[in-house]
Amino acid sequence: MADVSEVRSFDAYAPSNIALSKYWGKRDARRNLPTNSSISISLADWGSHTTVGPAPSGRDVVSHNGDILASDDSFARRALQFADLFRAGRSSDLPLSITTRNTIPTAAGLASSASGFAALTRALCGAFGLDLDETDMSRIARLGSGSAARSLWHGFVRWNKGDRADGLDSYGERLDLDWPAFRIAIVALDKGPKPQSSRDGMNHTTQTSPLFPPWPAQAEQDCKAIEAAIAAQAFDDLGPLVEANALGMHATMMAARPPLCYLTGETWTVLHRLWQARADGVAAYATMDAGPNVKLIFLEDSTDDVLTLFPQASVIAPFGQEFGPGS
Ligand code: DP6
Repeated sequence: MADVSEVRSFDAYAPSNIALSKYWGKRDARRNLPTNSSISISLADWGSHTTVGPAPSGRDVVSHNGDILASDDSFARRALQFADLFRAGRSSDLPLSITTRNTIPTAAGLASSASGFAALTRALCGAFGLDLDETDMSRIARLGSGSAARSLWHGFVRWNKGDRADGLDSYGERLDLDWPAFRIAIVALDKGPKPQSSRDGMNHTTQTSPLFPPWPAQAEQDCKAIEAAIAAQAFDDLGPLVEANALGMHATMMAARPPLCYLTGETWTVLHRLWQARADGVAAYATMDAGPNVKLIFLEDSTDDVLTLFPQASVIAPFGQEFGPGS
């Protein structure tokens, strides 16, 4: 009979995040240690709710958005492998039930690994009765997915790259600053054929792109400048830096051999429409990750302009509301 007495049921929530200054390249792939620091903004109530508890059936069960996943499903395998960090050597004695639900609209096409691993870390810590602070949880979440190190907090978060080989100095830290007028819009576009995962794309770029070697130093410089612009609430400085950093990251991929381009014709159409609107005075800037969708940053008073340009966009106010339970 499996002894599940050491595990109790625990619910947790973590928001998704968008990098304003990107993480793209690792100095240690096993520990997800990045080549440069990065800064993100969390997406408030767009994120993952996760419950971890003992599995009454005596076998591990993983469910996602209401469906029980097959044991060879890649999400289930990654989640259980991650849970093994907590039940090291005891996995057969501690069968777990892991239930996750994303509040991110599927149509928004955002990757959920950041909020997923951050919520799973919180839920596992609670289920195993571990009293860890957010810094420790960020170090652990990073092992599941690098960007998860930034999803333990709301608001702006910096992930310090750290220098140590063991990664103990590589964790997220909330920037102590609220910017109530700050807005994000997600312009969701057709996905087309399944692209490479960000993990595979990052490895491929690091290994083959002649534009990768100068990238970490530029990205580190961008990260510092982006943090300074956030601290000064200087949107006119921040917007161009964020957009240039994203396009720089995509340039490293496009120069990979063979090339890697997550951006589609629709992405470029959105960008050109945005650039034209900017020339006409609309203060909104774009960033893109490992997919075709465009995320816009702007301030509250540009909301109508942004929605006129992109009526299908979803607008998020990252500092604008009370956050739900577990957040
Ligand atoms: C383009 O965190 O998904 O979104 O650490 O391999 O799991 P792994 O990668 P992941 O990469 C995110 C890449 C990005 C930029 C960013 O979020 O900083």
